[in-house]
Amino acid sequence: MNKPAKVPIPFSQSENNLAPAIEALSAEKVYSNGTQALLPVNLTIQQGQFVTLLGPSGCGKSTLLKMIAGLIEPSDGKILLWRKDSRLKAAENLSFVFQEATLMPWCNVQKNVRLPLDLAGVPKEEANLRVAEVLTLVGLEKFAKVLPRELSGGMQMRVSIARGLVTRPKLLLMDEPFGALDEITRNKLDSDLLRLWQEQGLTVVFVTHSIHEAVFLSQRVIMMAARPGRVVEDIAIDAPFPRDEQFRVSADFAHYAQQLQTSLLRASQSGETTQHA
Ligand SMILES: Nc1ncnc2c1ncn2[C@@H]1O[C@H](COP(=O)(O)OP(=O)(O)OP(=O)(O)O)[C@@H](O)[C@H]1O
Ligand SMILES: [Mg+2]
Repeated sequence: MNKPAKVPIPFSQSENNLAPAIEALSAEKVYSNGTQALLPVNLTIQQGQFVTLLGPSGCGKSTLLKMIAGLIEPSDGKILLWRKDSRLKAAENLSFVFQEATLMPWCNVQKNVRLPLDLAGVPKEEANLRVAEVLTLVGLEKFAKVLPRELSGGMQMRVSIARGLVTRPKLLLMDEPFGALDEITRNKLDSDLLRLWQEQGLTVVFVTHSIHEAVFLSQRVIMMAARPGRVVEDIAIDAPFPRDEQFRVSADFAHYAQQLQTSLLRASQSGETTQHA
């Protein structure tokens, strides 16, 4: 297979700068109703990596992401962020982006994006400057005064991403953020997200059901299986960045999509309870 020439990636995402951003240490989750959502997970995600969680419905992707965010506690084991217990994390260092844009319909784009800064007590003038900055990053600088209902679904999602970025997080956690969008809009937002990831030196953990989205975006795909939820495979997508529309039709892309398809099929059929992470 012809591999395209490697393009250097930013320092923060280079091999020289590897330090763990996230460490799951035998982190497991049994919900209060007795559901074993996740068997113990051992997983290290390095600073600056783009990692995707992929697997059939109910395999614990959202559960793992919420545990990383500190929104729910592991029932055993622990999660460290930047080598510290995640409960002690500084909230401004991470942002969570959900599938729905969840915007306040009565507030314009500027106020929606400013919300986390208002909650943190950042003075309005400074906050507005930061909002303007992130709206430019997501290509919505002309829409600051517009209400959410006047925007398309894709644009609303951009507002949601801008709100996630306005606190200048180091870690972006995204739970099927583009799952409700049409394919063309989704592809465009995928490209925008990769650009932001590179420009901002972010660490991203991204949940998707889409094999193609996982191949396009990720450096690593964590494959999970259900009943009970667990990690079953850790697959490297060793294609260079930046990735563009040409990558989507390349032999490399087809190769990785095939690999993920096989792995996902195995994960969907597997009733085993073994795990390697
Ligand atoms: N709050 C909860 N209380 C009890 N059980 C839960 C709760 N949240 C999730 N579960 C169960 O835990 C398991 C994992 O759920 P989770 O939502 O993490 O899966 P998922 O991989 O994100 O699924 P999907 O792809 O459908 O979003 C499922 O069996 C689910 O029913
Ligand atoms: Mg989910």
